[in-house]
Amino acid sequence: MATFKNIQSLGALEGKRVLVRADLNVPMKADHEGDMTVTDDTRIRSVAPTLKALSEQGAKVIVMSHFGRPKGQTVPEMSLEPLGQPLANITGLPVLFINDCIGAEVAETIDGMENGAVLLLENVRFYPGEEDNDPEFARALAQNGDVFVNDAFSCCHRAHASTEGIAHLLPSAAGLALEAELKALENALGNPQHPVAAVVGGAKVSTKLDVLTHLVEKVDHLIIGGGMANTFLAAQGVDVGKSLCEHDLADTARDILARAEAAGCTVHLPTDVVVAKEFKAHADNRTVALDDVAQNEMILDVGPASVAKLAEQLKSCKTLIWNGPMGAFEIEPFDAATVTLAKAAGALTEAGSLLSVAGGGDTVAALNHAGVAEQFSHISTAGGAFLEWMEGKELPGVKVLKQ
Ligand code: 3PG
Repeated sequence: MATFKNIQSLGALEGKRVLVRADLNVPMKADHEGDMTVTDDTRIRSVAPTLKALSEQGAKVIVMSHFGRPKGQTVPEMSLEPLGQPLANITGLPVLFINDCIGAEVAETIDGMENGAVLLLENVRFYPGEEDNDPEFARALAQNGDVFVNDAFSCCHRAHASTEGIAHLLPSAAGLALEAELKALENALGNPQHPVAAVVGGAKVSTKLDVLTHLVEKVDHLIIGGGMANTFLAAQGVDVGKSLCEHDLADTARDILARAEAAGCTVHLPTDVVVAKEFKAHADNRTVALDDVAQNEMILDVGPASVAKLAEQLKSCKTLIWNGPMGAFEIEPFDAATVTLAKAAGALTEAGSLLSVAGGGDTVAALNHAGVAEQFSHISTAGGAFLEWMEGKELPGVKVLKQ
C-alpha cells in the first residue's frame, strides 16, 4: 500500500502555524430568527480530533474550507462565519473567524494568535484561484502556514489550490480522519480480503457506469439494486413495465455483464421484485416474479426471496463495499430490501466476519435509516470523492500526500 505522510511526520508543532483543510461544506438551514444552523454536523465532528490534537501540541491551528459553489465571487450566504460556533462547540476550543483567507490582515491575525488557538478563514472559493488551482493563489494561502494538513477526504477529488496546489508548497500530511479513511478504503478495495462483494444501487446506470466497469474487474460479487437493476433486467429481455429504466443503455448493460463474466465476477440481479402502480408511501403493492410485472406497474424494490439469497451470499464474503440503496428506500414499505440487506451486513460486521465500507450520496442516509451505520466498519461522508475512488481513479488531493 502506498503510505501517506501523517501528522507525526511533521515533527514538533509547538508554535508552528498549521493550515488545516477541512470540509465544512455541511448542510444548513435557516432557523426561526433567520440564522443559519447546521443540520448534519458529521463533517465537523470528523475533523475535530485533528484540530484538538494540533491545538494540544501547541500549534496555531488555521482552518480553511470551501462552502457551496460561489464560483470565485464573494457570496455572503456562503460565508463560513456561521460555522465558527459549531466548530467551537464540537472541538471545545475557542474559534476566531476572519473574513478573508489570504492577505496582510490574515497574516497579522495569525501573528497575534496564541499557541493552541484556532482561527477559521473565510470560504476559499470566494477567489477564482481556488478552483483554478492557480499557483499564485496557492502561494498566497501557503503564506498563512508553516505546514499543511489535509483532513478532508470529501474534497480530495478536486485538484484545487487548498487541496492540491498548496501541498506542493508546504510540508504536508494527512490528518487523522483522512488517514483513517485511506486505511479503510485500502482494506476494502486496494488490497482486500476475498471474496469481495459490492452493492451498487441508486436510480441510474448512467451516473455509475465507470463505477460498475471498474468493480467487475475487482470484486467477486456485484449486487445491483435500485432503479439501475431495471436497466440490466430490461437489457436481458425482462418487461419492466413503467419502471424507471434507461432503455437506451441496454447495450452498455450487456457489455458490463460480459466484462463481469470474463473477469469471474458474479452479477446478482433481483429474481423477484416489489411492484406498485404509483410512487408513493404505502402504495398498494405486490411481490412478483420477473415475468409478472404488468404494463402499468413499476418496480420499487428488490423482492424478499432475492434479498434472502443475497444475505446468505454475504455470509461467505470477507469484504463489502456499499454504494446506493436497493430500492425506493425513502418511501415505506419500499425500504425493505435496503433495510434487510443492510442489517445482515451490519450483523456480519459485528460478528467479525465481514469488513464493510459504505459511502456516497444517499447511502449514508439509507444506512442510518436502517439503523446500522454504527455497525459498519467504515462509513464515508464523501459524495463525489467516494464515487471517484470506486471508479478506481487516483484522487489528486490524496496523490500529493503520498510518501
Ligand atoms: C462535497 O460536498 O461532496 C464536497 O464538499 C465537495 O463539494 P463540491 O462538489 O462542490 O466540490
